[in-house]
Amino acid sequence: MRSARGRNLFFSTDVNRHIAEADIIFVSVNTPTKSFGQGAGRAADLQYWEKTARQIVENSTSPKIVVEKSTLPVRTAEAMEHILNYNSAGLHFDIVSNPEFLAEGTAIQDMQNPDRVLIGGKDSPSGQKAVQAIVDIYAHWIPLERIITTNLWSSELSKLAANAFLAQRVSSINAISALCEKTGADVTEVSHAIGLDSRIGRSFLRASVGFGGSCFRKDILNLVYLCEYYGLGEVASYWEQVIKMNEHQQMRFVSNMVSSMFNTVAGKRIALFGAAFKANTSDTRESPALVVCRALLEERAEIVLTDPHALDNARTDLGGAAHLVCFEPDPYAAAKGAHAIAILTDWAQFTKLDYDAIYKSMAKPAFIFDGRNILDHKKLHAIGFNVYAIGKPPLTHIPAI
Ligand code: UGA
Repeated sequence: MRSARGRNLFFSTDVNRHIAEADIIFVSVNTPTKSFGQGAGRAADLQYWEKTARQIVENSTSPKIVVEKSTLPVRTAEAMEHILNYNSAGLHFDIVSNPEFLAEGTAIQDMQNPDRVLIGGKDSPSGQKAVQAIVDIYAHWIPLERIITTNLWSSELSKLAANAFLAQRVSSINAISALCEKTGADVTEVSHAIGLDSRIGRSFLRASVGFGGSCFRKDILNLVYLCEYYGLGEVASYWEQVIKMNEHQQMRFVSNMVSSMFNTVAGKRIALFGAAFKANTSDTRESPALVVCRALLEERAEIVLTDPHALDNARTDLGGAAHLVCFEPDPYAAAKGAHAIAILTDWAQFTKLDYDAIYKSMAKPAFIFDGRNILDHKKLHAIGFNVYAIGKPPLTHIPAI
């Protein structure tokens, strides 16, 4: 950013002036889940997008291409087109959909080297000209065969569908992890075995305490709402199950913790390793770590939360419950005197800790619950830990009664 700033990258808060001067406007405002009125809890809240469209109209003196970069429900472009093109000045606006597929933590690599860039536009001559203008921008650094163009509705829907498919894979492997725990199968072995089938593929098959982040839940709920809106009840409940499975996986993890620790965690110190929804980000939105944290607080456990980067966000997101949690940046200090450790974020740092020293500092029997399957479970067991992972037979020192 530093190398481009002042050359062809400028930052400004003078929105109206830059609207007036621009030929192309990428609108990247947020579209959270609606929290009020019709569709509350499911539909996307489009008020920011609509306000921006109106602001563009009010400040334009020349025709423009308006690019939907935010994740939007299908056919949003239609509504925006009405708002933009019914203006008193008689100006023409072309709407193009160009959804963003980058993921947090790998944003720069994803931007420099994306699997594909998707650009959707209208079939009309001016719509196709607008699509070409956006293709030309990306063609500066992306091979043309990775830039695909579609109609507007395909492009809008592809974004929601891609996230729904990704989340579905995590929910599918997590569903299998529950069965593994009952049958003695090992989910890592199962996911390796199925992932080698090129039709299934290896990525996004890591069983976990559940998926989080600001996108998956929001986008699937939005998809569910769209299906319901179009009278497709069965389709809606098919996708809704991906969310339900995720909630089940988070709760199953907590129940496993409580039942393994002799059916009570009340008053027990528990160290939660990780607050972020995944490694390499400080983002705690929809983080399974905070769901687990809240559920254990309900059980009256004494929670110490540690994370290399996400503690400030965790404190904010926990809101009224934050005063019950001890926030401790040092994992060794967090584990000291604890009955259990739960690994909730896949930070590489957590794999490199001295678990011998950690074990010595803990209350006994010491438990470790690996919600990301990132630790060396046999080694931990040899140290003396009772080890519980996702979708694997537990390794314990407690004789069965
Ligand atoms: C996701 C998509 O991957 C991006 O392509 C998309 O652009 C983005 O949403 C968006 O809509 O903006 P992101 O939410 O940043 O990106 O993170 P992911 O890497 O997709 O991870 C989501 C969650 O799934 C995390 O909690 C992660 O730990 C979990 N996960 C992922 C698993 O539990 N197992 C896996 O095998 C993979």
